[in-house]
Amino acid sequence: MKTIVINGGKKLRGEVVISGAKNAALPILAAGLLCAGKHRISNVPRLADVTTFGRILQNMGTSFERQDHDIIIDSTGLANPEAPYDLVRTMRASVLVLGPLVARMGKARVSLPGGCAIGARPINLHLMGLEKLGATVEIEHGYVVASAKKLRGAHIYFDTITVTGTENIMMAATLAEGETTIENAAREPEIADLANALIRMGAKIEGAGTDVIKIQGVTSLQPMDYIVMPDRIETGTFVIAAAITNGSILIKNCFPGHLDAVLAKVKEAGAEVVITGNTIHVIGKSQIRPVNIKTLEYPGFPTDMQAQIMSLMTLADGTSVINETIFENRFTHVAELRRMGADIEAEGRTAIVKGVQKLSAAPVMATDLRASASLILAGLAAEGQTVISRIYHLDRGYENIEQKLSAMGADIKRV
Ligand code: EPZ
Repeated sequence: MKTIVINGGKKLRGEVVISGAKNAALPILAAGLLCAGKHRISNVPRLADVTTFGRILQNMGTSFERQDHDIIIDSTGLANPEAPYDLVRTMRASVLVLGPLVARMGKARVSLPGGCAIGARPINLHLMGLEKLGATVEIEHGYVVASAKKLRGAHIYFDTITVTGTENIMMAATLAEGETTIENAAREPEIADLANALIRMGAKIEGAGTDVIKIQGVTSLQPMDYIVMPDRIETGTFVIAAAITNGSILIKNCFPGHLDAVLAKVKEAGAEVVITGNTIHVIGKSQIRPVNIKTLEYPGFPTDMQAQIMSLMTLADGTSVINETIFENRFTHVAELRRMGADIEAEGRTAIVKGVQKLSAAPVMATDLRASASLILAGLAAEGQTVISRIYHLDRGYENIEQKLSAMGADIKRV
């Protein structure tokens, strides 16, 4: 079993180039199902989740070819609108093929995603939206079986804000008859990136990035040539890496405007943050101040950055309260951080973090993607050698993270 070994205590110095956004690339790859022909999607990070998504698309008869950071998709041969359990269970984002398949083929058979470490994560809202668009949706033997002769535009209200739910319905609505309004839509930047890709294909979409999105259905779309936006969560993770190691990092090829909430909190914690165009210069300080965090849908503090900022708060000179409002079980990193000497009490959706002088390195285990990032950040700051196991979680969402960190002076290697 591969592990990551970190000898902590080094200040990070240097620069890092941010990769393409995983959570924009995945829905944009799914959009390649909406019309035949060669789509070229650029700046796609080399991640396990992208590889898995490729296998799901190939399994349906879509070609999927990587040329460095470009992916060429051709769904002309799309024949089998099915996403099997053995692939879907390893990556819930597979549910993103549902809307495009029903819109393109009039049918889909997609495995229910099953459970997840961070919460139940049902897809009831995805299915409600498809039914509102006129699809028949059944659950049979653990699979969603959806069919529709022709989707018709509808007014859809999400009572819970859902990122992939908004993306699924937005994609399906591009080929529906008439106008679709999505109310209480997710506002994450990845939604706007997907909408821009769909518009590049000839879709008619307004309001992506706001809570009301209007889609005018069209009869057909054309293949896209699109560059995926930088990953705001990878960016945020490196911002914390500079702050927690009292280092100085220049983060390049990022989109600072996507990180207002994260940068505000890191500055409140005492780090210096200088934004110049598409770069962020973060300078850590020896004193880390405690901050209170409440995760919210965008533009609030992102749940995908909660574990990372918790690592920083374990070394603050005071007490921080972290409230996770999006997922019901996203504190699995707490037990591992406590093994490293952190003083954290987690109760339900709230964690109380009392800062300690220092963390002590220990063998720890990654439990989900962002928890593994928080353990790396803690290992960079801890005295001694931290060994992190189950790092397959990390490879789902971070491209070459140990190379990027060691290029800035971290003593980190994959064993
Ligand atoms: C997306 O997941 C991201 N994944 C997640 O990132 C991210 O944590 C999450 O949004 C929240 O920002 C991708 O974009 C591929 P949701 P998603 O639907 O769409 C409830 C990472 O680390 N809900 O916005 O699955 C749900 O249970 C991953 O990269 C329903 O009740 O999240 C949750 O409590 C982890 N019914 C809340 O809504 C539904 O039908 C938000 O979930 C759908 C969601």
